[in-house]
Formats: sequence, C-alpha cells, structure tokens
Amino acid sequence: MKYGLAFIAIIVGSLLTLAMMLQWERPPMASTQLGPRGVGMVLTQNPRTEAILKSKNIAPESDPPAQLSGIKVKDSPDYQNVKVLGDIDVEEFNRLMGAITNWIAPDEGCTYCHNPENMADDSLYTKVVARRMLQMTRQINTMWTPHVQQTGVTCYTCHRGHAVPANIWFKNDGPPHAEGMSASRQGEGLASKSVGMTSLPYDPFTTLLAKGAQIRVDGTEALPTGKPGASIHDTEVTYALMIHMSEALGVNCTFCHNSRQFASWSESRPQRVPAWHGLRMVTDVNETFMASLQGTFPKNRLGPLGDVAKVNCATCHQGVNKPLYGVSMVKDYPELRIPNP
Ligand code: HEC
Ligand code: HEC
Ligand code: HEC
Ligand code: HEC
Repeated sequence: MKYGLAFIAIIVGSLLTLAMMLQWERPPMASTQLGPRGVGMVLTQNPRTEAILKSKNIAPESDPPAQLSGIKVKDSPDYQNVKVLGDIDVEEFNRLMGAITNWIAPDEGCTYCHNPENMADDSLYTKVVARRMLQMTRQINTMWTPHVQQTGVTCYTCHRGHAVPANIWFKNDGPPHAEGMSASRQGEGLASKSVGMTSLPYDPFTTLLAKGAQIRVDGTEALPTGKPGASIHDTEVTYALMIHMSEALGVNCTFCHNSRQFASWSESRPQRVPAWHGLRMVTDVNETFMASLQGTFPKNRLGPLGDVAKVNCATCHQGVNKPLYGVSMVKDYPELRIPNP
C-alpha cells in the first residue's frame, strides 16, 4: 500500500515535469541588456525563433518607379470612378494597382476587386473595402507619424499577400458555457493564444482599444485612501493587453518598462512612447475605418458576434519590434501618403 502511493506520486511527478518541459525553450538563449546595470532590464530571445521570424518578415522588392505622364487621374477621361487617388499621376496609379494586386490577391489578380467588364464598377465589396483601406493607409502614414515615423506602412504590412491579414480580432464571448451560477467566466480562465496562453482575460481589446480607455492600474498611494484604484478584473485586463503587446512585438515587459515601477514614465525606456501612440492609432484605425465597413463585409467575414474584423498590434508587427524589421516600403509608394495634407 505504502509503495503503491509512492509509485503513483512518482508517476504524477514525472508527468508534471514533462508538462513543464514542453513549455521550455532549450538553451542557449541570446540576451541583450536594455536598461541600467543591475536592474534586470534584459531582452531574452531565442535565436532559433529569431531566425524563423527573420525569414518570415522580409519586405518584397518594389516595382521600378513609374515614368510620370504629367496627367493626373482626375484630369484623364479614361477614369470614371476614382474617389481617393484622383490626385496622382496616371502612371503612378497603374503601377499602384499592380502593387496592391501583389500585396492582397496575387493569385486572383485584378478581378479580386474588379468586374473585368467595367473597372469603374463598384459591385464587388472587395473594391469598396480596398478604397477605404487606401484612405486608412494614407491616414496612418500622414497623421500617425508619432508611431510609424517615416517608415510608414503599405497594404503589405498587414496583408502579406493574403486578402485577410493573419492577425485580426473579433469580440470574443468565449466558448459556450454553463447556465446559472457558473454561467460567467468573466472573460478569463482559459489558456488563450491572444494573451500568450495565459488564463488572463482573452479579449482585452474590446475595452482597452477604445477611445478614452484608461490603461492605468497602479495606485499612487500606499493605502487605498484617495480615489479608488482599479479593480482586480480591470488590472487583469490591463496585464492581458500588455502580454498581447509583448507577444506582438516579440519582446518582454522590460522592452518598455522598468519592472520595479510599471507606471513610472521617467524610468521607462523611450520605446514606451511610440507604444502609447500605437494604442491610440489602433483605436483610430478600428473606430474610424474598420467600423465604417461593418455594412460592407459579407457575413462570412464577420466574427461570431457579428462584428467586423479589427486590428491590434500583431496585425502589423507580426512578432517583430518594427514591422518588416523597419524596412520602409512606402518610400517607394509616396502616393500612400495624403498629398499636401
Ligand atoms: C485590392 C483591390 C484591387 C485590386 C486587386 C485592383 N484594384 Fe483597381 N481599383 C481598386 C480601387 C479601390 C479603385 C478605386 C480607387 C479610388 O476610388 O481612388 C480601383 C480603380 C481602378 C481603375 C479606375 C477605374 C475607373 O474608371 O474608375 C482602374 C483602371 C483599375 N483599378 C485597374 C486595375 C488593374 C489593371 C488591376 C490589376 C493589375 C487592379 N486594378 C487591381 C482596387 C483594386
Ligand atoms: C493596418 C492593417 C491593414 C492595412 C495597412 C491594410 N489593410 Fe486591408 N484589411 C485589414 C483588415 C483587418 C481587414 C479585414 C479582414 C477581412 O476581410 O476579414 C482587411 C480587409 C481588406 C480587404 C477585404 C478582403 C476580403 O477578402 O474580405 C481588402 C480588399 C483590403 N483589405 C485591401 C487593402 C488595401 C488595398 C490596402 C492598402 C491600400 C490595405 N488593405 C491595407 C487590415 C489592413
Ligand atoms: C511596447 C511597449 C510595452 C510593453 C512591451 C509592455 N508595456 Fe506596459 N505599458 C505600456 C504603455 C504605453 C502603457 C501606458 C498605456 C496608457 O497610458 O494608455 C503601459 C501601462 C502598463 C501598466 C499600467 C501602469 C499604470 O499607470 O497603472 C502596467 C501595470 C503595465 N503596463 C505592465 C506591463 C507588463 C506586466 C508588461 C509585460 C507583460 C508590459 N507592461 C509590457 C507599454 C508597454
Ligand atoms: C499600422 C501598423 C502598426 C500597428 C497596428 C502597430 N504598429 Fe507599432 N510600429 C509600426 C511601424 C511601421 C513602426 C516602425 C517605426 C519606426 O521606424 O521607428 C512601429 C514601431 C513601434 C515601436 C518602436 C519599436 C522600436 O524598436 O523602437 C513600438 C514600441 C511599437 N511600434 C508598439 C506598438 C504597439 C504596442 C502597438 C499596438 C497597440 C502597435 N505598435 C501597433 C506599425 C504599427
């Protein structure tokens, strides 16, 4: 009997160890010191994962520059229904049509967005979406330079040769659950990919990627005397978002924070500033542009709760601190900025 229990304990112990080992990444790891000595601000990266990321995040070569004709699209009788790109040269326009085909639908070609009988026709929803995406991309490259700097983005930054970007999010109610007393999961308690396989709230986006959201949980006093601080749930949602941000950029918390005091800006790294702008940019992209396409997308493109697909940090970053390792594609496609804003 005594040995029986010991035997079971050994088996359980080995299984637990094995389960833990499956979470491990084998050494050697590469580490880079990010902050002052002795404060543990170190970026730890797995060189094998980095090699895979490097091969996946390569910007394609740009087409040779257009030979400008001197005629603007809006002045040419050949174009009937151009609402966004009227201010560019017709040759730039044709070159851009070729490029967006490669960035969005390389296999389908022009007909992914166009009725081949009549290019001016707007009957395909993909063309209507693409027109709004042109405005969105121009807005990001012109109004959101505190985040994207002069590096900017093109359709490829998110799409990478696919009509639906690899990283998008929908409102998430979680899987079906019991009724009654055990009905509410409070949106957490499941290992979710969106938050790095932790059991933190799996949809931190709906509440925190919204205008006016307070991503602030630290109290400013030792005792809860002044204004009431954030609830445990709000704190968990904030941490869930922070894990998403770290995973999306392939970094850890100390890429932006000194973890002795997460709230303190003076002890944070400068990288926390573009991240702050990034949070506001993503909210603008979702609330101004994606939401306006709610009625345009067909049902099969909507989420389980009927909402339109939305953008988060991973949509552009895809595991890297600067999308495509900071290579600027928009410098070869200046028409993706608002001309003379
Ligand atoms: C991802 C969607 C998409 C793809 C693929 C695409 N286009 Fe377009 N195209 C558009 C949008 C959006 C407009 C309207 C732009 C505007 O309103 O400023 C447009 C407009 C046009 C027009 C102007 C029609 C008119 O008279 O109003 C022409 C010509 C055109 N595209 C040619 C092409 C060609 C040729 C290809 C393939 C090489 C192509 N497009 C691929 C989205 C696309
Ligand atoms: C910031 C990220 C981002 C950028 C930049 C971006 N898109 Fe999108 N795009 C999205 C998201 C998110 C969707 C919604 C995915 C879906 O269709 O379910 C989408 C959908 C589309 C669709 C509809 C595809 C389908 O089959 O439903 C088209 C067409 C499109 N984008 C064209 C463009 C063009 C053209 C550009 C560049 C001018 C562009 N996008 C730039 C994020 C982006
Ligand atoms: C890419 C930069 C970045 C990374 C990585 C990051 N954070 Fe943050 N964090 C921010 C920014 C920016 C804010 C402030 C957001 C705001 O004010 O809207 C913030 C806010 C916070 C806050 C709230 C502080 C307060 O004022 O109450 C906490 C807590 C926090 N982060 C923890 C973490 C943890 C834990 C991690 C790692 C899992 C992490 N962060 C990773 C940028 C980052
Ligand atoms: C529309 C695409 C896009 C989205 C969405 C996006 N970023 Fe970025 N981000 C960029 C680009 C482009 C750069 C490179 C700017 C540069 O060259 O400095 C960048 C740079 C950064 C940097 C600076 C990195 C460094 O090494 O200096 C941080 C931090 C960052 N982003 C955080 C975020 C966070 C956090 C989110 C989500 C809240 C986010 N980004 C969403 C496009 C995007």
